Amino acid sequence: MADAASVELLHVTKCFQATTMALADVSLHVKAGEFFALLGPSGCGKTTMLRLVAGLDTPDSGLIRIGGTVVNTLPPYRRRANMVFQHYALFPHLSVYDNIAFGLRVRTRPVPEAEARRRIKTVLALVQLTGLETRRPQQLSGGQQQRVALARALVLQPQVLLLDEPLSALDRQLRQVMQGELRRLQRELGMTFLYVTHDQDEALRMADRMAVMRHGAIVQLGTPQEVFQTPRTPFVAEFMGATNILAGRVVETMATTIGLETSTGLRVVCQCATAVRVGTVLSIVVRPEALQVVPHGWAWTEDNAFPGRVLQTTYLGEITALTVALPGEHTLLCHMPSRLAQEFGYQEASAVLVGWQAQDGHVLEEDPPLPSTCEASSS
Ligand SMILES: Nc1ncnc2c1ncn2[C@@H]1O[C@H](COP(=O)(O)OP(=O)(O)OP(=O)(O)O)[C@@H](O)[C@H]1O
Ligand SMILES: [Mg+2]
Repeated sequence: MADAASVELLHVTKCFQATTMALADVSLHVKAGEFFALLGPSGCGKTTMLRLVAGLDTPDSGLIRIGGTVVNTLPPYRRRANMVFQHYALFPHLSVYDNIAFGLRVRTRPVPEAEARRRIKTVLALVQLTGLETRRPQQLSGGQQQRVALARALVLQPQVLLLDEPLSALDRQLRQVMQGELRRLQRELGMTFLYVTHDQDEALRMADRMAVMRHGAIVQLGTPQEVFQTPRTPFVAEFMGATNILAGRVVETMATTIGLETSTGLRVVCQCATAVRVGTVLSIVVRPEALQVVPHGWAWTEDNAFPGRVLQTTYLGEITALTVALPGEHTLLCHMPSRLAQEFGYQEASAVLVGWQAQDGHVLEEDPPLPSTCEASSS
């Protein structure tokens, strides 16, 4: 069945004690064979969601379906899902090899030893641990332990793999290699991945679709491009690193753009796909890399252009981050190629012009109210 490895949550709520609503009426449909990333700040409910799908916790209300079948009452071992834990949970008394082999041996129909050996060899090579088979977990580094945890789940070739920050303990280079390898393997085997990460770049690079969570709720779901380029609310915008949010009143509406006046008197033009009325108060967002910064006095063709003064420059390698103060209270964060910043000789107090095109800004909705507490929702 083509849909055998889909994962669905329907109005799922989970409370811990009376006060913590770890998941608040979450609905989500991850398609079979999809790489789906869950992103959000610490404590927003990511691990809780994976544990509910794996069957390690039960929801207070709502349904969980795997491959179209409701699994709410099925024990973990009867679900088609395996989990790679955030805290590796390896067996300390078993070797690397036996940790990986464990799941193959305890099955009702164990995998034949020769087949098990072949599979373990393959996953060991994949996670770059060949040669360390006889070590115990405490003889490994954190990153190596994390890779054993990953190998232990991959070797079972589950239809659904639930991964809780599986690469967080790895150095940048190995992390990038593993990202590519995991993506390749997921595609080749047609597995469904529900993949938790703190790292927005990892989600953008790897996922077919992704969701951003806040306080137990999904606030935006879409392709990486959609979420990155058109964050829906200030929370998502800031979480995705788009820190320039300007609030103001609509003073003019045109075919595809609006004119906005901020409380400090800046007049800004911004694209706007939906109809809004003059007088509406709203916020717009502009990504740091969309801003152009040129020396004061330059001829300028941007839709929005304001004189400013550099408050701070931070060298970040390829790019340099400039904080620029505009007239009034506004500061804007601008990212520009370091080569250019050096050519212009920007430093603290440099007089500059900051500008951007109308289509580089977009209008945000308000963040939804936070979910009520568990006590309030059950009364
Ligand atoms: N067993 C538990 N008992 C009580 N509260 C819990 C329990 N497990 C999780 N919580 C609470 O539920 C909320 C969601 O926790 P969860 O572990 O799902 O967050 P997370 O998004 O995975 O965070 P992190 O990124 O830090 O791993 C948090 O407020 C957490 O304190
Ligand atoms: Mg977690």
